[in-house]
Amino acid sequence: MIDKFEYDLIVIGGGPGGYVAAIRAAQLGLKVMCIEKRKTLGGTCLNVGCIPSKTLLYSSHLYNLSKNHLKDYGINFGKEPTLDLKKMMQNKTDAINKLTYGVESLLRKNKVTFLNGTAIILDKNYVEVIGKKYKTSAILIATGSTPTEIPGIDIDEKNIVSSSGALDFNKVPKSLAVIGGGYIGLELGSVWSRLGAKVTIIEFTKSIVPTMDRETATIFLKTLQGQKINFLFNTKVFNAKKNSNSVELKCQQTDSNETKIYDFEKVLVAVGRKPYLKGLEIDRLGVKKNKDGTIKVDEKFCTSIDGVYAIGDVIQGPMLAHKASAEGHVFAEKLVGNNPDINYGSIPAVIYTEPEVAWVGPTEQELEEKNVPFKKGVFPFTANARGKTTGDTTGYIKVLSHPTNDRILATHIIGAHAGELIAEAVTALEAGLSAEDISLICHAHPTLSESMKEAASLASSGKTLHF
Ligand code: NAI
Repeated sequence: MIDKFEYDLIVIGGGPGGYVAAIRAAQLGLKVMCIEKRKTLGGTCLNVGCIPSKTLLYSSHLYNLSKNHLKDYGINFGKEPTLDLKKMMQNKTDAINKLTYGVESLLRKNKVTFLNGTAIILDKNYVEVIGKKYKTSAILIATGSTPTEIPGIDIDEKNIVSSSGALDFNKVPKSLAVIGGGYIGLELGSVWSRLGAKVTIIEFTKSIVPTMDRETATIFLKTLQGQKINFLFNTKVFNAKKNSNSVELKCQQTDSNETKIYDFEKVLVAVGRKPYLKGLEIDRLGVKKNKDGTIKVDEKFCTSIDGVYAIGDVIQGPMLAHKASAEGHVFAEKLVGNNPDINYGSIPAVIYTEPEVAWVGPTEQELEEKNVPFKKGVFPFTANARGKTTGDTTGYIKVLSHPTNDRILATHIIGAHAGELIAEAVTALEAGLSAEDISLICHAHPTLSESMKEAASLASSGKTLHF
């Protein structure tokens, strides 16, 4: 049976890419349906990703602060603070519920039809959901990604977990191995370490977050080690055996081939994510893919099949919620004939640990590899007045600018609120500002953001007022 309604656009996937595309397309006058297989909207980000992890990062930070650091500020408790993990988890669930409900309200407000079910693309004009066909002029695939698995390691979401399972432990494990020293490993490793687990991060390469600026990564690693997180580098896990109360990991040193066996109560596998395209039947449709399994698209996000589009984690580029949202917005504009573009060179990256790390633009190593000359200004938070008042003195802001025209090429921040501070650097990069421009802008005092002005001044002229 063919539904009597016809749509201009059917969006498959209600995550930060899909729901943004649906809302914007509706605002631009299109008749839009958004299909989502989860009961709630918001995708991985809201349900089992960014939002729950950031809630737990904040809660565990408060716990660690009150247990170990508030005494440094003259605040003493009669007794040690205790952990109510159930309440902490409930608080996380409340944050998820408020946000997923919020997205549903936004779809309603913008007159987007929301359909809960799993979509199959029948052809470029028909989508089937729970045995019913819907006709549409355009289809957008925004189905996101799923954790990559390691052969020989069976994720049961109890003892060996993905990021989803690691957001839901009902007690603090005594020991936790995290396979992968990337975004998820460091964020969730930090959560459980702060709550009392002995955390070991096992990383295949020789350093954490291979895409991070090396100088910044070195400071970052030292700070995390200072928080008693243990690291094993150049180590490959090739087998996991579940015992009654523990998991035995067989690891191999990649530099010496030496094999070692370790025992942990729980294991988190966080070795990246891959596009999620299960059940869509796009291969039958003839949608072409890249070698890495992502969908090939052109500058309008059109796949090899006219009228079928794709954005977010299913196409190439960083698997970040804000990248998917930016693509969703721009896709909708392009679909109605507008022509904005995304500057992929100014997509920020943020790791929400303590300290936070945020950057935009290339690392020093990437500039060197491409033979791009640069000047460098580094301003430490130890010299920042606000940092002194709050104790947030770890880290720095590093601005890299071009030696000839002083144009800002990149900014790397490690320290408190780096994820907020990076917004100014993103704007500067997008607007093509010089380091001198930033150094002459009046920044509020006392704020951490003054360090951006000082780092820019150092990059521009080699001098600044407070360092
Ligand atoms: P990732 O790509 O950030 O890190 C994976 C790490 O695992 C890499 O360092 C890699 O060298 C290592 N690895 C790979 N195979 C290994 C093996 N067999 N043994 C040991 N180490 C191995 O991936 P992650 O952390 O799983 O995150 C997935 C995606 O989610 C990322 O693309 C990230 O962009 C996104 N994400 C973003 C967040 C944010 O924006 N704050 C937070 C969480 C996730």
